[in-house]
Amino acid sequence: MIGSLNGISPGGWVKYAKKIQQAGAAALELNLYFLSTDPNVTSETLERNYCYLVRMVKQEISIPLAVKVHPFFTALPNVARQLADAGADGLVLFNRFYQPDFNINELTVDGDLTYSNSKDLLLPLRWAAILHGQVKADLAITTGVHNHEDVVKAMMAGAKVTCIASEVLARGLGRLGQIEKDLAAWIDEHEYESVQQMQGSMSQKNVAEPAAFERANYIKVLQNWSETP
Ligand SMILES: Cc1cc2nc3c(=O)[nH]c(=O)nc-3n(C[C@H](O)[C@H](O)[C@H](O)COP(=O)(O)O)c2cc1C
Repeated sequence: MIGSLNGISPGGWVKYAKKIQQAGAAALELNLYFLSTDPNVTSETLERNYCYLVRMVKQEISIPLAVKVHPFFTALPNVARQLADAGADGLVLFNRFYQPDFNINELTVDGDLTYSNSKDLLLPLRWAAILHGQVKADLAITTGVHNHEDVVKAMMAGAKVTCIASEVLARGLGRLGQIEKDLAAWIDEHEYESVQQMQGSMSQKNVAEPAAFERANYIKVLQNWSETP
């Protein structure tokens, strides 16, 4: 059982982190969800605050600590490294923000809970592939994992863990057993000896074309698109 914590004040984060450990959690995930709306606040200040929180919590607990981050940092690899240095044993990619929508008749701002789909996996997949081997933290992917092929992709990118929410909410807890069964069959069929053998095999460091994860690939994508009938 992994506890997940989303706090507001530094004191609160530490207090509840300790409570979650005392309650018997095997690990703790800090959900760092702060949306900056103040033009005076710099990214450096926010990143320093994030690392301060991680360091404070890490000092007070002995169970492994994961940090769930959002994908909107200008220099994500640097932030990932700072968080790992501050004590994060794992990084969870990514927080999925629910975007507010406008009701143009009532003039209200609301939003619906929409489930993810497998295409949403592409964002954390890319970043796991880029971060693999570059930070001293295990990687987990959350967002867009719906079937065993998504799990295989996540592992190949370099994730050690995949988290599944939408699929379970939409189709029930039984899906987890089915995905595990499908995964075992796929691994057998493709003659992998272990999951470890798969992990990171398609990370940026290990693929034949590392630029595929960078902007250079944009040109290729557009060329492919123009050939589509
Ligand atoms: C109903 C619901 C409640 C959620 N509550 C939390 C939460 O309390 N803390 C958190 O970090 N993420 C929360 N999430 C986000 C999920 O943990 C997950 O990161 C996100 O849904 C993306 O994964 P998915 O594509 O499998 O849905 C929630 C998601 C849903 C659908």
